[in-house]
Amino acid sequence: MKLIVLGASAGGGFPQWNCNCRNCAGVRDGSVRAKARTQSSICVSADGVDWALLNASPDILQQIKATPELQPNRALRDTGIGGVLLVDGQVDHATGLFMLREQKQRLPLWCADPVYEDLTTGNPVLRVLAHYSGVDRHPVPLDGSPFAMDKVAGLSFSALPLTSKAAPYSPHREQSVDGDNIGLTITDQASGKRLFYAPGLGANDPQVFARMKEADCVLVDGTFWTDDEMIAAGLSNKTARDIGHLPQSGTGGMMDWLGELPKHVRKILIHINNTNPILDEDSPQRAELTRRGIEVAEDGMRIEL
Ligand code: MLT
Ligand code: MN
Ligand code: ZN
Repeated sequence: MKLIVLGASAGGGFPQWNCNCRNCAGVRDGSVRAKARTQSSICVSADGVDWALLNASPDILQQIKATPELQPNRALRDTGIGGVLLVDGQVDHATGLFMLREQKQRLPLWCADPVYEDLTTGNPVLRVLAHYSGVDRHPVPLDGSPFAMDKVAGLSFSALPLTSKAAPYSPHREQSVDGDNIGLTITDQASGKRLFYAPGLGANDPQVFARMKEADCVLVDGTFWTDDEMIAAGLSNKTARDIGHLPQSGTGGMMDWLGELPKHVRKILIHINNTNPILDEDSPQRAELTRRGIEVAEDGMRIEL
């Protein structure tokens, strides 16, 4: 399986357009050693020809330009994107669909029912797109049964509903329903290699951990270092957990959890908020991750499993 990190940042990107926090200001003026990152998306493929786009970020056009694999030249109009799969309906994961409107054929799209509902009501992206190429929508089964994307040969997908949060515009923002957020196990059918991908993961639970243990690589929520990161920075009154993201530090945090995984599992954080100190490559927090064998995703990262 081939995986390309298109965007490793959370919503807002890094640096964020209006932000002067230590990281954002520091990456702009060069006083912090860090790499800029675009918003949350990856693509996966078995053969390196046909790719599944996992989440469609507002930065998709820039991401495609930076990724020749997604822009083949087999016809006058062409794309390497065989289908799109959304893990939730958040703005940073769904807005890029607007930028994929110029196809002749309907865009193959997989999402769970609550996300489909949100994207046809509260944020009616899919109704707007119906006036362009339109989408060919397929429901994501929430019982874990495997599904395939017909134009992405050789990969099998399986979803697990997660504890996290629907987007702020969703009627179920505060009363989550199964399928608002999912984690994905992606299996290469030839090699049997498995990836677990969950960029929005709000709580540790045994089912999630079981999926993580079975994977060869986990690419999981790296949004915040501390639960009160946004409060301490004076940027919000909500904790990380309040908005559906398990912080890395603290008891029961993501680091504890990753520490329990078998040694051979590659551990990578993704969907990193611009306030997170791990973006600073010289920070003690980053050193702690390195000591624990945990990597920090960056744009353009290529992984082969
Ligand atoms: C989140 O996952 O909480 C988002 O990044 C929020 C957003 O897109 O604004
Ligand atoms: Mn997000
Ligand atoms: Zn910032």
